[in-house]
Order: sequence, then structure tokens, then C-alpha cells
Amino acid sequence: MLATALLIVGGLAATWTLWVHVLRPSHDLLRRYQKGSVRPWALITGASDGIGKAFALELAKRGFNIVLVSRTQSKLDACAQEIKKASPSAETHVVSIDFAKSDFHAIRKTVDDACKNRDIALLINNAGMGTLPTRLHELNDSETQQAIDTMQVNVVAFTAVLRGVTPHLVARDHRGGIVNVSSASALHGLPYNAVYAGSKAYNNLVSHTIGVELKENKIDVLSFTPLFIQTNMVRAKANLFIATAPAAVNACLRSLGYESRTTGTLSHKLQSLAATIYPPLAGEMSISTMKKVRKQALARMAAKAKKQ
Ligand SMILES: NC(=O)c1ccc[n+]([C@@H]2O[C@H](COP(=O)([O-])OP(=O)(O)OC[C@H]3O[C@@H](n4cnc5c(N)ncnc54)[C@H](OP(=O)(O)O)[C@@H]3O)[C@@H](O)[C@H]2O)c1
Repeated sequence: MLATALLIVGGLAATWTLWVHVLRPSHDLLRRYQKGSVRPWALITGASDGIGKAFALELAKRGFNIVLVSRTQSKLDACAQEIKKASPSAETHVVSIDFAKSDFHAIRKTVDDACKNRDIALLINNAGMGTLPTRLHELNDSETQQAIDTMQVNVVAFTAVLRGVTPHLVARDHRGGIVNVSSASALHGLPYNAVYAGSKAYNNLVSHTIGVELKENKIDVLSFTPLFIQTNMVRAKANLFIATAPAAVNACLRSLGYESRTTGTLSHKLQSLAATIYPPLAGEMSISTMKKVRKQALARMAAKAKKQ
């Protein structure tokens, strides 16, 4: 009896997962968010690299103009060029700002200004950073500064961007979207990255809450909680467990307009499920990986210092 019930529940869960991750058609986001015949804009933070850059290239391909917001001007310019080459009809606008060195009001005003005279239909709130993996009580001086910057970029700037852009989405009086890039560490924690995991839990909960608030304005709000993705932040080659940025972004966009949270790829969904069923997978058992990541990062930094 119990075995039959488990089989039925398991079968239903597997069918649902297959539907969401493979079979369900994604929304045509341009059709969903475009107001009239004007080509809409997506504003993306952290757009010059990694996941943000993959969002920028993909959304330009899907018919959006792109406001690229990030820290490094030369990387932003290179990214705008790349978009122009891949999607010649897409317009771009670049905004360079260091979220770690600007206060809430300056960040809010900068993104607010970038939205003026543009039909911003979609926000990808993605810029983020982490610290070198270390136990919280063992952070040295430079790692402590990294932790402070992480709270500033992942919490303060993240909120200032929402405060600056959301009024423009609401004022359009038309369907729009917000993707808040959190992380699976928001759900399971991440030893040696306590400040990062805490900041990502903040991203996830704020996303959930404003999703409820903005329902009456027809704004789709999605929290993206992926596991490892191959970028500068996670310097490991993509494999069955580690996604490429374009694959993660495509999987995330499949959920926009349907769910309020997604882990993205099917592999990440299954890994997250495994960590929910057996918490030590994301707890004690991940400590050895974090120690290895720390050792590799320190070796890279030492090699770089030797070259200079
Ligand atoms: N990679 C993963 O495995 C993973 C997993 C889960 C969640 N995430 C989240 O995904 C988001 C993007 O991470 P990523 O892996 O794509 O990292 P990434 O490759 O290092 O890219 C980070 C982006 O954020 C920008 N940025 C960093 N610090 C900034 C600052 N102080 N001011 C303004 N912009 C700043 C960077 O700009 P410049 O480099 O041009 O300065 C870059 O465009 C983050 O929120 C991260 O927490 C990543």
C-alpha cells in the first residue's frame, strides 16, 4: 500500500519535472512584455560578464534592447559590441557604476536615470559577488572587506536597483518582468560562504515578497536559485553538475511568467532536490570542496602576484 502510494507520488513528481523542465513551451517574452510597437528594453546589472552577459545576449536575440549596468567600462563596451554583432537590430546603452563604492541613493538614481525615456519592460537584477571561502570567524582583514563589499553589492545595491527600476515597470501599466538572481545557497546554505549565502537568502525572500506585491501590476517576478555555473565566480569547467551560463539562462527564462522561483536546469533541480532530502550534501560534505576552492584561489592569486 505504502509502496504503491510512493510510486504514484514519485511518478507524478517526475512527470511534473519533465513538463516544467523539458516539455512546457516557454513564453514568447517579447510578445508578453512589448507595449504597442515600441521595441522594449531589458535592464541587466552585472551584464558585462558571466550570467548577466548570457542574459544580455539571449534577450537581445529575443528582440529586446539592452541597458547594460556593471562596474568595468571596457568590459561593458566589449559586451555591447558583441550584442551588436550577434543581434544587429538591438540597441544598447551602457552604464558603468561600482556598486561596492556607491551608496543606496546614488545607485537608485543611476538606474532611475537609465530608465528615463526608455520603455523598460524587464529587469535582470543579477550583479553579485562572493568572498574567498573561509569560515566566518576566520576572515582576515582583506576577506572581511570582501564580506562587507558582498553585503553592499548583494543586499544594498540589489535593493536600490529594485527601488530605482520597479516604479518604471509599474508606470508602464502593462505586463513586465523582474528576475532576481539569488542562488541555491539561499535554500541550503553554503559552508565557508556564510555571508554570501545569507545575502542570497535575502535576494530570494525579497523576490518572493515583491512578487506578491506586484501581482496586481501584472509584473512577473522570478527568483533564480541555481547551483554552480561556469563563470569567473566558479572557475570550473561545465559538466553534468556545473551548467554553462547560456544553458542556465535559457532554463531560467523558461520559468519566467510561470513560477516565482526556479533552480534553472534539470540537473540543478535534481541536485537541489538531493540536498533537500539529504542536507549533509550541501552541509558538512561540501566543506572539502570549499577547502579545495580556497586553496586553488590562493594559488591563482600567488601566481598573479609573482607575475606583477
Ligand atoms: N556562478 C555561479 O555558480 C552562481 C551560482 C548561483 C548564483 N550566482 C549569482 O549570479 C550572479 C552573477 O554571477 P556570475 O557567476 O555571473 O559572476 P561573474 O562572472 O563574476 O560576473 C559578475 C558580474 O557582476 C558585476 N559586478 C561585480 N561586482 C560589481 C560591483 N561592485 N559593481 C558593479 N558590478 C559588479 C561584474 O562586473 P565587472 O566584472 O565588469 O566588474 C560582472 O558583470 C551573482 O549574483 C551570483 O551570486 C552565480
